[in-house]
Amino acid sequence: MSNEIRKILVTSALPYANGPIHIGHLVEYIQTDIWVRFQKLRGHTCHYVCADDAHGTPIMLRAQQEGITPEQLIADTWAQHNADFEDFNVDFDNFYTTHSDETRSFSELIYNRLNEQGYIEKRTITQAYDPVKEMFLPDRFIKGECPKCGALDQYGDNCEACSATYSPTDLINPVSAISGEKPIDKDSEHHFFKLGEFEAMLKEWTHSGHLQEQVANKLNEWFEIGLQDWDISRDAPYFGFEIPNAPGKFFYVWLDAPVGYMGSFKNLCDKKGLDFDEYWAKDSTTELYHFIGKDIVYFHALFWPAMLTGAGFRTPTAIFSHGFLTVNGEKMSKSRGTFIKARTYLDHLNPEYLRYYFAAKLTNRVEDIDLNFEDFSQRVNTDLVNKVVNIASRCSGFIKKRFDSKLSAECAEPALFQTFVDANKEIAELYESREYGKAMRAISALADKANQYIDEKEPWVVAKQDGGDAELHAICSVGINLFYVIAAYLKPVVPKMVAKAETFLNVEPLSWPTNLQPLTKHTINKFKPLMTRVDEGKLAAMLEASKENLEKVAPAQTTNSKKKAPTDQSDMIEFDDFAKIDLRVALIEKAEHVKDADKLLRLTLSLGDETRQVLAGIKSAYSPEQLEGRLTVMVANLKPRKMRFGVSEGMVLAAGPGGEEIWILSPDSGAQPGMRIK
Ligand code: MSP
Ligand code: ZN
Repeated sequence: MSNEIRKILVTSALPYANGPIHIGHLVEYIQTDIWVRFQKLRGHTCHYVCADDAHGTPIMLRAQQEGITPEQLIADTWAQHNADFEDFNVDFDNFYTTHSDETRSFSELIYNRLNEQGYIEKRTITQAYDPVKEMFLPDRFIKGECPKCGALDQYGDNCEACSATYSPTDLINPVSAISGEKPIDKDSEHHFFKLGEFEAMLKEWTHSGHLQEQVANKLNEWFEIGLQDWDISRDAPYFGFEIPNAPGKFFYVWLDAPVGYMGSFKNLCDKKGLDFDEYWAKDSTTELYHFIGKDIVYFHALFWPAMLTGAGFRTPTAIFSHGFLTVNGEKMSKSRGTFIKARTYLDHLNPEYLRYYFAAKLTNRVEDIDLNFEDFSQRVNTDLVNKVVNIASRCSGFIKKRFDSKLSAECAEPALFQTFVDANKEIAELYESREYGKAMRAISALADKANQYIDEKEPWVVAKQDGGDAELHAICSVGINLFYVIAAYLKPVVPKMVAKAETFLNVEPLSWPTNLQPLTKHTINKFKPLMTRVDEGKLAAMLEASKENLEKVAPAQTTNSKKKAPTDQSDMIEFDDFAKIDLRVALIEKAEHVKDADKLLRLTLSLGDETRQVLAGIKSAYSPEQLEGRLTVMVANLKPRKMRFGVSEGMVLAAGPGGEEIWILSPDSGAQPGMRIK
């Protein structure tokens, strides 16, 4: 690598503005943030921009549901996202929104330039239309019976019961998921981007070092199928930008989403006096990188470079694609409580644990990474706390007590110190190539070496020897200096911890330690724990809170009701499984509101000879008075569950989609509390 100062623009994919940031997202934002911090530490000019992806049908409908304007919804979400990123130390130079003048004007500019050159074509197509709601229905807003297995209530384009894929027109008895009405077919004129015209350009571009090999190979499959025209327009009502000279037609959200990268950067340029064209003009010599997840490769590696080329802008230097996060080996899941929101994590745990853990697991390949909580605690405790922080804590006490907090006049082990500094080349290459896992292992190996040095020199023994002062001073000063180099290497990953280390070392903010000199005759500050071990109690509380997030949304007994057909073979259970469930008739002796809970009622249920407390998510459908004295059916042998509002000792059976439409089950008259249901 040359020593020249590079000019680099980096982006992460823009999160949708209709949901919270979760730990899956954070793989990407943390991966990018580490890379950007590394570049800045090396002295390069690096700008990191992002924004909320604010347009599209789901956002429009969500706002309607909540009874607010889309502008209000995206403003609220923006504030939450911004706080989440800040608290995870994801340090954007600009976090903007696609619903901005800048993004609008670049979207129009790009569209107009493509149009002028004949890359846009208009065609009339037929689509499902909701006659009540008076809008065209995106695939995922049409429901019906699966044409293959007959499962009820399946969404637009694939069946959750049998995994068949189809087009929404194949659904049996289709209905609009918004109004429940049967959709009609309706014609409308759409604008298409002629991607096929860019085939030669894209074939060449995708195979000239801008993509990871796995990604380039995947794209070959798409070239074989043939590049299809891309439908870039949507009809009103739509929350987005209207297409120039096409009243009632809006840009499809994925048209203006990547343009949001430009919009956010333009906004930064205007604030900071930077030159936009230097980074985006066709002949730019600066570097442009997009970090994305594997699910959005098509948009970034085909549509985006084609749009940019067609509109006369530069193309990205590279696209870095990562895999998906799994938790304990499985897809994140609300029902398993592994759908963890950034905020829930932050309420309980130090964000730098997660930053370090992701760094330790990340490679530069498109592989899924797994978050396993045992492994998580172990790595953080072993690598960061026991190894790295320990070096400083082992040496600082002696320096303070015996040498008035001052390091020795000379470094006693210049060669050892130099090997630590020399490691910077290898570690820099690993960061640069996004092999963070390998970088963390290289750093950990240095920490081992430093600890070995201290173990061998046994300062605690020397401390007791008469005349051992000079040696003790030398050993502890070397230890502190080795820690100094390690801190610099960890700075992109755990910036807050390293900031504390800088305070302890009493040094200016560290940069990349290419020429780091040992600290001599230097006064350090009092050592304070730079990072503590993962508190297992807090970890458990975080996981528990993630489960409760879900129970606040809908009662568990009704969440899955719409997902699968009752007859789907893969869902069949053995009789023995059924026999395990102890269903009983229960008398609702008492029903009460639960303080601060907006979905739950506390039920006191009598089973004849014993009573149970159950927290049931049925407040939206029942008032306590309606329930007291009634008989219902409960699962009596469910393990007690600790929820935010107390322990629940069982579950009441209910049916219905939720809200006011929940019906608890009742036995016929004559049944007695405690009777077993068989
Ligand atoms: N809005 C689009 C991106 C537009 S970019 C011009 C989008 N948004 S998203 O909120 O669904 O995802 C944002 C980023 O987070 C994407 O790169 C996506 O791949 C990534 N991830 C979302 N869930 C993820 C995991 N479970 N694991 C890892 N990354 C994940 O797509
Ligand atoms: Zn099916």
